[in-house]
Amino acid sequence: MAPLYPWQYLYYQYLPLPSISAFSTDLGGKTIIVTGANTGLGLEAARHLARMGPRKLILACRDARLGNQAVWDIRDDTGYEPECWVLDLASFESVRGFAERFEREGGGRLDILIENAAVSFPTYETSEDGWETMLKVNHLGTAHLALRLLPFLLAAPAEPGPRLVVVTSEMHYWVYDRGAMLSERLLETLNDEERCQQWGTMPMRYGATKLMNILFTLSLSSRLARLQPPTRLTANTVNPGFCHSSLTRHMAHPLLSALKYVAARSTEAGSRTLVHAALAPELWGVSGVYLNACQEREPGDFVVSDEGKHAGEKLWVETLEVLFKAEPGLREVLKACGLEED
Ligand SMILES: NC(=O)c1ccc[n+]([C@@H]2O[C@H](COP(=O)([O-])OP(=O)(O)OC[C@H]3O[C@@H](n4cnc5c(N)ncnc54)[C@H](OP(=O)(O)O)[C@@H]3O)[C@@H](O)[C@H]2O)c1
Repeated sequence: MAPLYPWQYLYYQYLPLPSISAFSTDLGGKTIIVTGANTGLGLEAARHLARMGPRKLILACRDARLGNQAVWDIRDDTGYEPECWVLDLASFESVRGFAERFEREGGGRLDILIENAAVSFPTYETSEDGWETMLKVNHLGTAHLALRLLPFLLAAPAEPGPRLVVVTSEMHYWVYDRGAMLSERLLETLNDEERCQQWGTMPMRYGATKLMNILFTLSLSSRLARLQPPTRLTANTVNPGFCHSSLTRHMAHPLLSALKYVAARSTEAGSRTLVHAALAPELWGVSGVYLNACQEREPGDFVVSDEGKHAGEKLWVETLEVLFKAEPGLREVLKACGLEED
């Protein structure tokens, strides 16, 4: 079991990370997507990847103007020009449109998908279709995109093997809304407006969605492991640690600023953990793991408990129910991948 005591947290937070050259490689011929790449960890990870010359590097950003600024920033810095494609994870329609565009213009295969985009709000907010926003963007939209792009990941060359990397957080150890995770209908409980408005619920929400990233990725990984013929596609989660970025833009507080000043990694340092998860040679063929400070670590107590495993299975089933309703065609996509029965 892994409780993550404060001194352990600080140990990992201050642990020097490997330099990018430790896992730099020639990405010629590879197609890579980084979500939320207009700023923060996604932008810095994309900058590192650009220097390795992929065939296609797509910055999947919700705001075209900000995404194009990131394209120019990376081009001026590295000489490599990525592409900006619009993707709003708060909209099932946008995810579907993005995947359809990839089908037309992506070149048929996807070598690396880094699902980095996320939001953190202190209060209850909803997307246009009524889903609580963190639940929608951080879990539902992220899961939708991964499943929608699965055919292209599975089509990537088996050597050394495609990778799905989902960015999570150490918050999943401490605050994750245990009551909701143990409830009969997990997503409905989390989306219940009255419950969301109760004192203490929303402060747990970001951590809950980051726990869901781990549970869902584990469920996907275990299903990938049973595919016939076998696939080399791996699905892992990575915690970048506490880093300077605009993630806390909606939560200005002097204590948070002080904590950042004392303990936060630079955005560039944090981004190395994403690139490590996407490229490190020791991770070829390794799936279903949680990475922290560029090392494989045990995730939180709840994840490894029987209750957590049960919650992970429920989450898989309920998420697919929601996604199939939002996009009926997704069922056919998953059937073609061997993840759904006829
Ligand atoms: N920073 C930390 O201390 C820390 C610690 C642990 C984990 N993480 C994780 O690291 C990842 C990156 O976060 P960050 O710190 O770099 O935060 P950030 O600077 O706020 O970047 C988040 C990115 O996600 C994008 N995004 C937000 N909502 C979106 C949507 N609906 N559709 C598409 N993209 C959307 C943002 O786009 P806009 O600019 O348009 O909003 C932005 O590009 C997140 O998964 C976060 O949970 C961060």
